[in-house]
Amino acid sequence: MSSSLHVRRSGPLRGSCRVPGDKSISHRALLFGALCDGVVEASGLGLGGDNLSTAAALRALGVDVQLESGQARITGVGFAGLHEAAEALDCGNSGTTIRLLLGLLAGRPFETEMRGDASLTRRPMGRVAAPLRQMGATIEGRSDPARPGDVYPPLRVRGGALVGIEHQLKVASAQLKSALILAALQARGRTVLREPARSRDHTERMLGFLGAPISTAPSGEIVVDPAGWNGRLEATALTIPGDLSSATFLIVAALVVPGSDVVVENVGLNPTRAGALDVLRAMGADLTIEPVAEAMGEPVGRVRARASKLRGTRVAGELALRAIDEIPALAVAAAAAEGRTTFADLAELRIKESDRIAALARELGRAGARVEEHPDGFVVEGLAGRPPAGGSVVPEHDHRIAMAGAILGLTGGDETTVPTADIGTSFPTFAETLGALGASIAVD
Ligand code: S3P
Repeated sequence: MSSSLHVRRSGPLRGSCRVPGDKSISHRALLFGALCDGVVEASGLGLGGDNLSTAAALRALGVDVQLESGQARITGVGFAGLHEAAEALDCGNSGTTIRLLLGLLAGRPFETEMRGDASLTRRPMGRVAAPLRQMGATIEGRSDPARPGDVYPPLRVRGGALVGIEHQLKVASAQLKSALILAALQARGRTVLREPARSRDHTERMLGFLGAPISTAPSGEIVVDPAGWNGRLEATALTIPGDLSSATFLIVAALVVPGSDVVVENVGLNPTRAGALDVLRAMGADLTIEPVAEAMGEPVGRVRARASKLRGTRVAGELALRAIDEIPALAVAAAAAEGRTTFADLAELRIKESDRIAALARELGRAGARVEEHPDGFVVEGLAGRPPAGGSVVPEHDHRIAMAGAILGLTGGDETTVPTADIGTSFPTFAETLGALGASIAVD
């Protein structure tokens, strides 16, 4: 039977906590670990549903992946050691799994079918398939008469002898960029990639750390040049920082619940990904951000958040891109704030795990905030401290809509109910972490 979270108006949240390993970096640790020459121990791995989908797909391709509470032991087989899977790879809810695998398998001399859940099946893959076809792969998928020219899962990829390309990406997307980099490492000749704006660079950092022939120019241009490379990534220990996307829900909770003072330890602070902290500061948040260490070229630190009187702001352009996954949490901050917050240049949100613009407009509207929806964003008139109404959150297979609804409920006038099913995609310990900080949250 599916369970629900019951969230009520909470007293101050206090204490120090940790979040599971970064979902984006965990996918890469699993995938790149499989491409290493020997055994790779990865610690601090996220064990949400999305990362488990990547681990299961790799096993189906013949890689030994052992997982135990955040520790992974991956026996790397290199590109050439991957085998044809006996059946279709189930990528679940995970866009990163299907898109990165598409790039990887584009260079393998066998056929693979990939599918996913109802949400993933609606997400466009043409952005990845088109340049991979140009490099020499054969990719087929489901077409949608409403959006001719694009392609949707289930997908079938037959790898070929790839050639490098010079390519201007049409969207700033780390999933697309990473897929092309994985194909480029298997191609003959150099690949040069240019993005319209700089998306998260976890792939470049980790592959560089593992000795792959990849470089990024100050302009952001990425060059992959496999000439003279032996085709092997160096097997070494990987340490995954905590997920800033998960942490942002806790940080926003601390900012909006009066009297709160919360520290999140060991969080990834990669600047291509940490726009949410800049947005919150612009809203007047009392944040102390302390970089502590570096793991695999990724900055890691501690974030302290104290309850704050927030004001509206504008989130657009490169800032919006650097906060793309945190918009649901930031929308909750906007709902609590005084004044208007404008979210713009975010058309990509319409094709995430759900149409997040429509979902956030609906959930914030239900809670009593005035929201104006636009094709590429939305404008929120904050409640300025008035309690949002409770009710039932409808996450539509989207973990971050579910968690945003729960955080909104922490200052609510009456109970908010959230189905738990989707939260495990990225943050299986969400309810217990909030509960330990003192939130009024129960699961049944
Ligand atoms: C991700 C890239 C982003 C992000 C997603 C994770 C990644 O997606 O929204 O949650 O791990 O590469 P896009 O590449 O579609 O922008």
